Amino acid sequence: MKQFHTPQSARFLRARYVLPLVLLATGGSALAQDPQPLMGQPLLGLTPTQLQHFEEGLVQFSTPLTEAMGLGPIFNEVSCVSCHNIPAVGGFSTRRVTRFGKAAVGPVPFDPLAGLGGTLLQDQSLDVACREVVPPEADHEIHRGTPALFGAGLIESIPDADILAVQAAQPVSVQGIPRYNQPLESPGGPMVLGRFGWKGGVSTVESFSIDASLNEMGLTSAFAPTENAPNGDVGLLAGCDSVADPEDHADAAGFTLTQRFTHFQRFLAAPAQTPRTGMAGEVLFEQVGCADCHVSSFTTGTVPEAALSGVLIRPYSDFLLHDMGALGDGIVDGIATETIMMTRPLWGLAQRSALLHDGRATGASFGGLIDLAVAEHFGQSDASRIAYQALSSADRDLVADFLASLGRAEFDWDTDNDLTEFDWFFLEPLMTGPAPSVPLTADDPGALCDVDADGDFDLVEFGKLQRVWTAQ
Ligand code: HEC
Ligand code: HEC
Repeated sequence: MKQFHTPQSARFLRARYVLPLVLLATGGSALAQDPQPLMGQPLLGLTPTQLQHFEEGLVQFSTPLTEAMGLGPIFNEVSCVSCHNIPAVGGFSTRRVTRFGKAAVGPVPFDPLAGLGGTLLQDQSLDVACREVVPPEADHEIHRGTPALFGAGLIESIPDADILAVQAAQPVSVQGIPRYNQPLESPGGPMVLGRFGWKGGVSTVESFSIDASLNEMGLTSAFAPTENAPNGDVGLLAGCDSVADPEDHADAAGFTLTQRFTHFQRFLAAPAQTPRTGMAGEVLFEQVGCADCHVSSFTTGTVPEAALSGVLIRPYSDFLLHDMGALGDGIVDGIATETIMMTRPLWGLAQRSALLHDGRATGASFGGLIDLAVAEHFGQSDASRIAYQALSSADRDLVADFLASLGRAEFDWDTDNDLTEFDWFFLEPLMTGPAPSVPLTADDPGALCDVDADGDFDLVEFGKLQRVWTAQ
């Protein structure tokens, strides 16, 4: 994990506030709530063994794969972190990958050009003789962005039945469709409702690890043992691939690389939301129908890991497929046809500078990005787009303020996922002490520091700030 703070900053805080903190600590005050983890940090409540698996997984996720380990022969990048790194390991990035195919004409359906290496292009290769290109047969090409993986284990732990219950309650005009996929790691097991990828084509973290290992890096494994041939040319493959498949083997502790990648992602904390509830913009977000698809909360089911079980999460997605009209990416992938995309979680939005699957909403302030993203919402989201655009600009600002709270941790004034003197410069004047005459509301700047939501920013919260600061 990155070390952001300087020793000076920690000393600065300690020197000025050590006395009241000592009093607090010895007073044994009951701490109602703890600040949420920053992005890239592990879930709270992991066992020591799970924490160790998280740390070891982080190393593998960040380590470049070599040819001898199984990289290539064709690939997009050499490590998971190459694409998943903002604002921390496991995050999103500006890297986009190319998908291609031949668009439908009349009764002739979309052709994924599977025999020519479609739909995913691998744009790098070990040997230039094996480099893939978008074949001339393709007349449709799009560039899909990289989502962040924070909270992936929690998303995985939402019971299918709870997603189906959301679907059953949706107004008919916006009702989504569940997509079932076969988890790669349990070929004979039950199908599971999809919740990852822009088109919902993957249901579990381990499946995505296996899939991305093969398709982004060229690492074959027990459940995906066949290399991608460059533009489908198996003859070329023989000359460019020197390592026998499957390439992913168990290490001394008995875990394969794809399992290591899985550990790291599964134990990543969800993006923070501050304040946790109660902003005026969320009411408007519900009123204009955004929340019909961007469903605020789920509670995870009972899974083997206690830290992932029975947790209330606020991802703002229904994990269902919707017909988005012209926003669709034109690629057919199973039941997710040209115009059909999965509702994306909105947690983590505060960090992003490009929105939507191809990043087309970009180059504006945060509020401007939201306006641009909504302006591209067609199909089943037509009514919601129109209702949003009819809001006054002051109301749209409130919606943007609310959406900016998704991905912001307590005390992180500038929303850059770390705490520094710069944040403290703005936070210090916001201290109210206990029971101010006018209590803080969720829409006040000071709510950023009101960890226990009791309407003030007092020394209890200051103590929490100091602990987070010194721990980061
Ligand atoms: C070349 C860039 C690139 C590399 C390398 C890469 N990814 Fe991704 N990742 C993406 C893109 C693009 C998507 C969106 C996929 C889609 O739906 O088309 C994605 C999506 C994901 C998702 C789904 C997240 C969600 O919420 O939908 C997971 C999980 C994931 N990647 C894990 C991994 C792992 C594990 C590795 C390493 C084995 C990896 N990725 C390597 C670009 C990359
Ligand atoms: C009918 C369902 C539906 C409704 C209603 C809806 N959305 Fe979406 N939203 C989606 C889907 C599907 C996507 C993924 C779009 C894509 O693939 O580019 C999305 C994506 C987004 C994104 C970009 C997320 C990202 O990771 O880039 C934002 C922001 C967003 N929606 C905000 C809103 C707001 C604000 C409203 C209300 C005005 C709204 N949405 C209403 C389905 C919906």
